Amino acid sequence: MAKLPVIKFHPVTAPKSGNALVLLGKDLSLCAMAEELNTASQGALSRAIKAADFKGDLFASQVILAPNGLELDRVILLGIGEKDLLDTDWLRLGGAGMAAVKGFEKSSMILQRAEGEVSAEHASLFAMGMKLRSYDFDKYKTEKGAPKEDKPSVHVTIQLADHEGAAKAWERDDVISNGTLLARDLVNEPANILGPEEFAAKAKALEALGAEVEILEQAELEAENMWALLGVAQGSVRGPRVAIIKWNGGEQGDAPIAFIGKGVVFDTGGISIKPAGGMEEMKGDMGGAAAVTGLMHALIARKAKVNVIGAIGLVENMPDGNAQRPGDIVTSKSGQTIEVINTDAEGRLVLADVLTYVKEIYEPRFMIDLATLTGAVLVALGNQNAGIFSNSDEMCAQLSQAGEATGETVWRLPLSKDYDKMIDSQFADMKNTGGRWAGSITAAQFLKRFVGETDWVHIDVAGTAMGSPKNEINQSWASGYGVRLLDRLVADHYEG
Ligand code: BES
Ligand code: MN
Ligand code: ZN
Repeated sequence: MAKLPVIKFHPVTAPKSGNALVLLGKDLSLCAMAEELNTASQGALSRAIKAADFKGDLFASQVILAPNGLELDRVILLGIGEKDLLDTDWLRLGGAGMAAVKGFEKSSMILQRAEGEVSAEHASLFAMGMKLRSYDFDKYKTEKGAPKEDKPSVHVTIQLADHEGAAKAWERDDVISNGTLLARDLVNEPANILGPEEFAAKAKALEALGAEVEILEQAELEAENMWALLGVAQGSVRGPRVAIIKWNGGEQGDAPIAFIGKGVVFDTGGISIKPAGGMEEMKGDMGGAAAVTGLMHALIARKAKVNVIGAIGLVENMPDGNAQRPGDIVTSKSGQTIEVINTDAEGRLVLADVLTYVKEIYEPRFMIDLATLTGAVLVALGNQNAGIFSNSDEMCAQLSQAGEATGETVWRLPLSKDYDKMIDSQFADMKNTGGRWAGSITAAQFLKRFVGETDWVHIDVAGTAMGSPKNEINQSWASGYGVRLLDRLVADHYEG
């Protein structure tokens, strides 16, 4: 992975070398330190603002090279616009700031505004934006056939009045960043390297942080009667795994909250094979499981005060002499039978059994599943919102709020008896597809048949886990979507 910046917090002092970044609003008045740099450079900042016609627009930047009278390589102006900045703006501002100083070894980010101080929380979000922006999945790029030389680390000092508060807030936001980057790494990794077994090993590695991780293999999954999941896996030479990550940070005996992830390490579609064009993207069909793994990393590393289960169903969906056929009928762990109309609607088969397993064994307070479940959610919502489906209005409200706060936004889609009817089967209790229309909803109705009375939300991340347009905080194919959203949900409503 590309080198991540080394981030430190410091009181505001005149930077003596490297780059200095200062914030600038639309009224173009300089903060105290910018004023000091401007004076020391005989007005280089004000002249540059004028010469470049810099307007201080949010996220815009202007570089001033080697200003006279200063020992700095660059002074960088970073626009903050004129409106009050939201938390998500500070995050994206950090990303934009990182882009402006990128690659240079030493930078001071001076978080001071003409109108007043920057809060510790905002400075920490700025740091998170810098870190997320720095991520680059370049481990398979070589130079002349050899691994690329590691570039020197970028050292960033974030300067602000409440630097101690910011350093404290960063202890938490740093591990949330790490969880997000772990999820990105898992999604970007190709399926030849990351099969079910290798993914399970990544989950197992969370034990080093203090979690307990249980891995179920073929024989155990058979003993658990998880035949819906096993049916998907049977066309692959690489056996399935279910990983259960357990964190007990709450009161002993309190029911856990549970996160369940679809981990199809590669989805060819099976016998209902997908067209060749773009099929390589199906290496990301474990984006739900990646988000659950990254989330568990974050919650465990920050010692969240709550009992949590993270459960991921890991399979590969391949066509093969032993693959499941359209028309096959499988008996799920719940006892309900499923007619497999289309082997490409495999994610719901995997999730059905993992949801049942988690519900029966752990009796959780709620279950939230994340899955790259349907192409239809991309048609409905694009890359901008994940679709949520739920039996709990309260949880939807909490998630919407967490989405606004983190920028990982969600949009609720409906469930109803009429949609549910669409997956009735003439041969079994249900079929795994509901026809052409409302594809994301009928997929969610399918899952709903396995959650019983438990509060539940299904998050369809097919549009948000990967392939999103590049932005201030992500330049990579995989986004790590879901880690920040759900960490926030837990922090705001389910801890302590
Ligand atoms: N993994 C896909 C959904 C998907 C599509 C994820 C595009 C990411 C990007 C899923 O398993 C699938 O194939 N769904 C089918 C369902 C259909 C057969 C009912 C789909 O969406 O076409
Ligand atoms: Mn599929
Ligand atoms: Zn799939």
